[in-house]
Amino acid sequence: MHITPEVPPDQAPALEVTALSVRYGRAISALADVSLRVDAGEVVTLMGLNGAGKSTIVRAVTGLLPANGGSITAGAITSFGTVLTGRSPRFIVRHGVAQTMEGRRIFAGLTVQQNLDVGGATRRLADVRDRQAEVLELFPRLAERRGQLAGLLSGGEQQMLAFGRALMSSPRLLVLDEPTLGLAPKLVSAIGTAIASIRERGTSVLLIEQNAVMALSVADRGYLIEHGRIFREGSATELREDPELQQRLLGLTEDAA
Ligand SMILES: Nc1ncnc2c1ncn2[C@@H]1O[C@H](COP(=O)(O)OP(=O)(O)OP(=O)(O)O)[C@@H](O)[C@H]1O
Ligand SMILES: [Mg+2]
Repeated sequence: MHITPEVPPDQAPALEVTALSVRYGRAISALADVSLRVDAGEVVTLMGLNGAGKSTIVRAVTGLLPANGGSITAGAITSFGTVLTGRSPRFIVRHGVAQTMEGRRIFAGLTVQQNLDVGGATRRLADVRDRQAEVLELFPRLAERRGQLAGLLSGGEQQMLAFGRALMSSPRLLVLDEPTLGLAPKLVSAIGTAIASIRERGTSVLLIEQNAVMALSVADRGYLIEHGRIFREGSATELREDPELQQRLLGLTEDAA
């Protein structure tokens, strides 16, 4: 029997999180009833203060933490998408979801080139060559430093490497956990430009940020999270122009600065 998908694969959401709850041990409920969506081709930002639950969402989406309830699906092999809940990080990367972790987390003892090779490990060689050319075009500094140990890169360069390494797996969805943390304003805007450019190449982005000004300048839509619950969502324009949120968003930005 042939079943025609109701939604063409390229139009299905890149990520759909429904009623997700996550606990750390018995005592700590880190996420409660979190739902969010990243449509194909969208940049969506998730903003919130320290401890709000942002990285916990990233860990659940990429399979590093089990969900206690709810579901996570990504892309579309069927009209319902591929269920990621309960799958291994390796399965999730193979199904097109890549992430950069908070705090850079590059392999300090490997060279820039070797870090990129690790990022492309799940892909065929021909794909890896094409992807690497794109990454080096996006971040020319990495091309200059290819043979250097990654641990000796500056903070901003390490952030670019983390970003580049994630792109090496040709993700359909890239999850960036605070990519601008600790960066000078010029590098913050370079990261913004890189995000816009990878979206043009067809990758959807979930951008975790405390820098609300940067996040809302590059995102199509945004969610705000507090104490493990989403309390507001809207288009980037709505969120930017909401007088009530302005104070709060500016507060977030100042905290990050
Ligand atoms: N491994 C863990 N064990 C117990 N509690 C944890 C663990 N990791 C995070 N938490 C708690 O879960 C909550 C959410 O943490 P999370 O790291 O998701 O926050 P965040 O929004 O990413 O914050 P930040 O902006 O500081 O990175 C916090 O209260 C934190 O203390
Ligand atoms: Mg975090």
